[in-house]
Parts: sequence; C-alpha cells; structure tokens
Amino acid sequence: MWLQIQNFQEYLDDVQQSRADVLKFWEHEAGTYYWRKPWDKVHSGGFEKGDVTWFEGGKLNITENALDRHLNSIGNKTAFIFEPNHPDSFRRTITYRQLHEDVCRFANVLQDKGIEKGDRVCIYMAMTPELMIAALACARVGAVHSIVFAGFSAQSLAERIQDCDAKMLITNDGLRRGDKHVPLKDISDEALENCPSVHSVIVCQRTNREISWVEGRDEWWHMLIRNASKEHKAVEMDAEDPLFILYTSGSTGKPKGVLHTCGGYMVYTSYTFRNVFQVREDDVYWCTADAGWITGHSYILYAPLVNGATGIIFEGTPTYPDAGRFWEVVEKYRVTHFYTAPTAIRALMTFDLDFVKKYDLSSLKVLGSVGEPINEEAWNWYNTHIGGGRCPIVDTWWQTETGGIMISPLAGVTPTKPGFATLPLPGIFPVLMDENGDEIQGNGVSGNLCISHPWPGMARTVWGDHERYLQTYMSAYKGYYFTGDGCRRDQDGYYRITGRVDDVLNVSGHRLGTAEIENAINEHPNIVESAVVGYPHDIKGQGIYAYLICEHAPADLKAFKAEVHQVVNKMIGPIAKPDLIQVVPGLPKTRSGKIMRRILRKVAAKEHDQLGDVSTLLDPSIVPVIVEGEAC
Ligand code: WTA
Repeated sequence: MWLQIQNFQEYLDDVQQSRADVLKFWEHEAGTYYWRKPWDKVHSGGFEKGDVTWFEGGKLNITENALDRHLNSIGNKTAFIFEPNHPDSFRRTITYRQLHEDVCRFANVLQDKGIEKGDRVCIYMAMTPELMIAALACARVGAVHSIVFAGFSAQSLAERIQDCDAKMLITNDGLRRGDKHVPLKDISDEALENCPSVHSVIVCQRTNREISWVEGRDEWWHMLIRNASKEHKAVEMDAEDPLFILYTSGSTGKPKGVLHTCGGYMVYTSYTFRNVFQVREDDVYWCTADAGWITGHSYILYAPLVNGATGIIFEGTPTYPDAGRFWEVVEKYRVTHFYTAPTAIRALMTFDLDFVKKYDLSSLKVLGSVGEPINEEAWNWYNTHIGGGRCPIVDTWWQTETGGIMISPLAGVTPTKPGFATLPLPGIFPVLMDENGDEIQGNGVSGNLCISHPWPGMARTVWGDHERYLQTYMSAYKGYYFTGDGCRRDQDGYYRITGRVDDVLNVSGHRLGTAEIENAINEHPNIVESAVVGYPHDIKGQGIYAYLICEHAPADLKAFKAEVHQVVNKMIGPIAKPDLIQVVPGLPKTRSGKIMRRILRKVAAKEHDQLGDVSTLLDPSIVPVIVEGEAC
C-alpha cells in the first residue's frame, strides 16, 4: 500500500515508462486497489469528443477502499484527528473502525430516507468529522455528493442545489469560524424556499443555537443515527459512475458543476497523494483546506483514507485565537506533513515571529503549497521559519477539474525550486501552446498550459452541460485539455505557473469568475454596469477591483461601498466582496462593445505607463478619466 517512488532515478524511470505505455502505467497503479470486478477496458475516448473513460466496467465502491479494506490491518489506527475552531472545545480522534461504523450508520440513514444510487445530495456543513461521514456515506450508497463551501450565501447554495436537482440537504444548525458565527440552518432555510427538489433536510448539531424547523422535512442527525445499524453493504459502482459534483467558477456564466467519477478519481488522487507527500505509516498529515474546495475533497477526504493515513480535520482559521494557531496544532499532534495555501503563509508572515518560535515544529518533515502561485518571499519564509530549512516544499499545481495534483515536486525525491511547481507527475504530459495553437518546444519558453493525454483523475463533464465542458476545456486547442493557466518552462525544464489567462480571479486561493461578481454587483439598483478585474494584493494574491457605472453619483462613497458589499454577500458570499471600487462615467470598450479588461487591469495595478494602444477603443477619451479617478 505504501509503495512510493523512492528517488529521482525511479521518478525518471516511471516518467519513461508512462511515456512508453501510459495505459499500462495506470493499469498497473489501478491494480493495487480493491475492485469487486476488474475493468473491461483501461481507457477509451479522448479530449476531442470529451468522452474519456478509465477502467470502465470495473466495479468498486471507493469507501471499501477507504475504509473496509483497512479494517483488518489498521482498524485501530487513527483516521482523523478533529481539531475544533476553539482550542478549548471538545476534540476527538476517530479510528478507521469507528469511521467505518459511522459511515455505515449514516449510509443506512440515507437509504432509509429514500436516497438511491445516482441521487444528488447537497452537503453544506462545518469542517467537522460529520461532513466527511456525510460525504463518505453518500459515496457508499452511490449518491452523488455536492459539497458547498459553508461561506457561500443562500442564493449561491440555492443555485447549486437547483442545478443538480439535489433531493436532500445535509447541514448544521450553525458553525463558528474564528470569532464569527454562521447560521447555516437559517441560510439553508432561505435557500430551500426556491429548491422544490429537496424533500429532506438532515441537521447536525454544532452550535446548539435556536433554529427554525420545518416539520416533516427536517430531522436531527443524532436522532436518525441512534437506531441505525453499523453494518452496511456498500453499493456496487462502475468506475465511470459519478462520485461527486463540485461547483467552480469559470470565466463566463454561473458556476460549473465539475463531475468526477469513482474509479479514475480514486486511483489518481491516491497515487498522487502517496508520491507527492511521501507520507509514511506513522505520519500525521494536515491539509488546512476546507472540504468545500477540491483540495479538501481529494487531500483531506479521499486520498488520505484510501492510503490509510492519519489526517487532521481543522475547523478553525489561521489567526484564531491568535496567529500561532497553526503552529500550536503542529506541536500538539506532532504533525509531519503540513499542506496549506500561499495566502495563509503571507497573512501569517505579517505577524511577529514569536508566534512561530513559541512552538516546537521539529516534527515537520514535508511542507506543501496549493491554490495559487507562491511568491519567493513567502516560499523563503515558509522554508526557513516553518520548515527550519530541512523540509522539502511541494508546490502542487492542479485544479478542481484535474481531480488531483498534476505538476509538483515529490517530497525529498525530486528537486524543488522557489516559485516553481517543477515537474509533472509520471503519466501527466503538460505542453505549452503559442497564440497560433502550436506546441512550443524546448526550454526557456512561456505559453498557455495544456495537457496532451487524458489522465484517470480528470473531470468527465460539467453537470447537465456537456457542451460547456467541451467549450471550456477542449475547444481552445483541438486534441488537448486547456487549463486556463499561463506557464513558463525554464532552462531546466521546470514549470512555473504564472496565473490565469482567462477572466478568472484567484483571490486567497479561491477561484472567482469576474462575470459572476459583476452579475452580483449589478443587482444594486444604482449600478448600471460594472467591470471587475484582479490586481496584485499583498496577502490575497489577487484583490478584487470593481469599476462601476452608476445611475446617480453616490453621495457617500464609503456607504455606497458597504451597500455593494451587502449585495455581493447576499448573491455569492463574503469571499467575493470587492476590495476596491471606483465609480466611472464609462468603460473602455472596443467598437464591438467588448470591455478591454487589459486596460482596467493596468489601471488597477497602477501601471499607468503600460496601458498600450488605446486608439482602437470606441471612446479613447474615457481612459484618462479612469486613470485620474479614485478608488475607495
Ligand atoms: C491556481 C485548486 C500556481 C491555478 C487545487 C489553477 C496554482 C487554479 C497552483 C485552480 C500552484 C493552483 N501554483 N497556481 N501550485 N495551484 N493554482 O480549481 O490558476 O480551486 O488553474 O483548484 O488555481 O483552482 P482550483
């Protein structure tokens, strides 16, 4: 189970083998898992039609791989350590055996409530073990889970429930994140006013605050599991049956329901987890992501369990009760592997080093980074002050759509380089494309990052909209998967991701579409039109800058900004609030009416001398007006 690539030569050999016969390579990896019946075909389909399959005909249940097959060998090993939001609250550890029982119990509850294979279940919960149990129980009965980050608004939640016609919602009464309280049940109730597909709501107690209740629809988690059996036979799934939907932002329209399937996702995430992090039997692995994002799905929930690792579930935030929280937790559990986002590192760097020095971090062996490019300063701080200069940093590049890590160092096995995701995993073939759609050969080059061969963990479709899937990922370069990222390949052949090349922002490691934010902002009655761009932000990586055309000039700009925030909070959630707004009389548009975001980005970044050619604009005179305007 713990077969890992041991050294650089082995890595090179595996790359070679995967190049020579990529199907054989993945078939060999797939052979190390528990299948009720082997697959009929290793792989079929391709990018052009977007009809990729892996291990089709193979029968399995991912929870049998994550739980059942461990019972005899490591049943008493800790699967999860739960660290609550407040350090003094009740913490607990859960063994593989207990987790198996809990998942079986809840799987029985789901089936009692009429949930069947293929049904969609929405999960909107605090970062607690129950969230993991809910998701695993769905997987066990063959239901497709859609976890929605518990920071999204009622409107966003409703949109996601409606899009996939979820039958059930699983939520908490509320949650605490730092010193904030989020009334999840109230938000859910508001969302459900517009979600006729949901017949059943299961509420897990977390804050014990008073909540409203809909008789006949709502039920308490703790009441339901009381009499549920701890025996449950997992439902048999095809490798290509859906496992989950996860909504993510694109450059246009509403969020897309990225769909992952059972077999390929399991094989790919589990392979990458084992090799990138080089986790060993007795290690304590901590990924600080939220389960509402893909990192939480792949590298807190599924891959660590399939590998039989011990992982931490953390409910809190990096700065609560103070900026030493991460390091306190590392010391307390003797954490060996620590995986976080650059934005968290940059935020913590601004505090006194005493918050770090107070704690014993000598247990750490490997550090990870994910979600956005890590700047050298943050890399160096992480390396020196957290890793003590002795822990390799794995800068892992991947996406919701890729399912698992694609380009990354393997800890202690392949070289690292500050700011670089470095080299692809074996079986992954990245290429850079020029403007003409040709592959750029050689090193010391930059282009748009594509992948040239399907891999088991890739998303199979966008829920309910396969056309959009083809359009977004498979159409820019025929026969390739287009990532939406720009990338540099340096003299040594190492990859450095330079950021999105489409209208997607990366704010604190969260993906947000500019169109989505604009749609929300435009709900404000005084706003006629808006244009949102990203700008460099010291902590968030990218900040949100909104240019607004108003019907009447707002009297008080600060108050107006607060109103804009309110609208965005309501439509999306606090993560999408603009950091800066600027009221403008017009926007720079081409003659065909397209907003020239390039110019707006330069103004937002205060690079006024780099505006480029503005003569093709419908009204070039708007540019100096915008340059001279003020942001608030
Ligand atoms: C960005 C998160 C640079 C990238 C797993 C990608 C990164 C988007 C890195 C996906 C990294 C992720 N270095 N950029 N190590 N990891 N990104 O879907 O722009 O939330 O396209 O998945 O984050 O974000 P998503």
